[in-house]
Amino acid sequence: MKTVEVLASSGPYDIRISRGLLPVLGTVLRDLFPPVFRVGIVSNPVVWGLYGSRIREALEGAGFRTVVALHPDGERHKTMESVMGLLGVFIGDCWERRDPLLVAGGGVTGDMGGLAAALLLRGVPLVHLPTTVVAQVDSSIGGKTGVDHPLGKNLIGAFNPPRAILSDPEVLGTLPLRERRAGLGEVLKYALIGDGALLDLLEERVEELASERFDGELWERVVTLCSADKARIVSNDERESGERMLLNFGHTFGHALEGALVFAGRQHGEAVAIGMLSAAAIAESGGIAAPGTFSFIKSLTSRAGLPCAWPEGVTFERIHPYLVRDKKVTGGQVALILPEAPGRVRIVRNYDPNLLSRGLFA
Ligand code: NAD
Ligand code: GLY
Repeated sequence: MKTVEVLASSGPYDIRISRGLLPVLGTVLRDLFPPVFRVGIVSNPVVWGLYGSRIREALEGAGFRTVVALHPDGERHKTMESVMGLLGVFIGDCWERRDPLLVAGGGVTGDMGGLAAALLLRGVPLVHLPTTVVAQVDSSIGGKTGVDHPLGKNLIGAFNPPRAILSDPEVLGTLPLRERRAGLGEVLKYALIGDGALLDLLEERVEELASERFDGELWERVVTLCSADKARIVSNDERESGERMLLNFGHTFGHALEGALVFAGRQHGEAVAIGMLSAAAIAESGGIAAPGTFSFIKSLTSRAGLPCAWPEGVTFERIHPYLVRDKKVTGGQVALILPEAPGRVRIVRNYDPNLLSRGLFA
């Protein structure tokens, strides 16, 4: 078992990473919550169908009663309406403040379950059991929770750090290949913003990670490297006033694309991959990035089996309204995270808005 510590304003917590962690889930939760008899589980029908009986068995074996709340699958259901549905289940069970929620699923489940835990009785303990690449390497770590609004992605939410994150890389083996590859979008992000060891690993083995054959040991290495990166960054800057903004590399255009597509058609990690290429196109055309940066990123993106082009029919006019509602906009100016070279990015706040359309590279 590998353990990575995260520092948060609410107190430190651990990310535990181990293949085969699922069966010992009950013991881990019993250690975290000794006097509690009830655990709420937030999941969706896909994840619950695959892992529900094992999760329930592990928890009930440790003496917990389980109360399960499922939300409909998919980004288009990442809404306040779904969160209200989850809350209703626990309120209906006469929830008490010390009873934790265990959130088992991908980033959509984690963001909504985390928000439900922040809102229920003004806050109940939260534990993440991330089951996708995106969730294990990124979304479960650092306390961001939230839902989408028709006017833009993740515009409603709260910071709500968990009490623990339990990552079992073995569960990534049941992900559809497209989802594993989409997760590589966020993995590439860590490599491109500065994790040299991860960049070397990807340059050498990205095709293996993007292939049908699942290598649990290799994925465990990737999850561990990314978790350590994110833990370090959010421990230094929990509320995103500086360094944490770098984790948004690829997200300004990526989120705008997701909004313009009404949260369907591109997975989050795929949109981030396209967004990183947009940032590289802007940076290279403005002389910020070393020549060749765009083609380097494009080559890795393509080797990861990720899309390398904007979808047909998405014009700058369609994405512009989402760009200007981005959460990093300050004083009306869009903040861009731009690469200077593979492995080095910086925040640019005074970019000429008339040149933003360069992000829609051909
Ligand atoms: P997702 O949660 O929709 O999961 C993708 C698909 O995989 C779903 O259909 C899900 O049911 C299925 N699935 C989950 N685990 C599975 C498993 N082990 N086996 C088989 N199928 C499984 O999407 P995602 O890519 O995990 O997360 C994307 C979301 O995360 C976006 O909403 C994004 O905004 C959010 N996010 C949040 C943060 C943060 O810091 N809070 C960071 C990055 C991304
Ligand atoms: N995924 C970006 C962040 O957590 O800040």
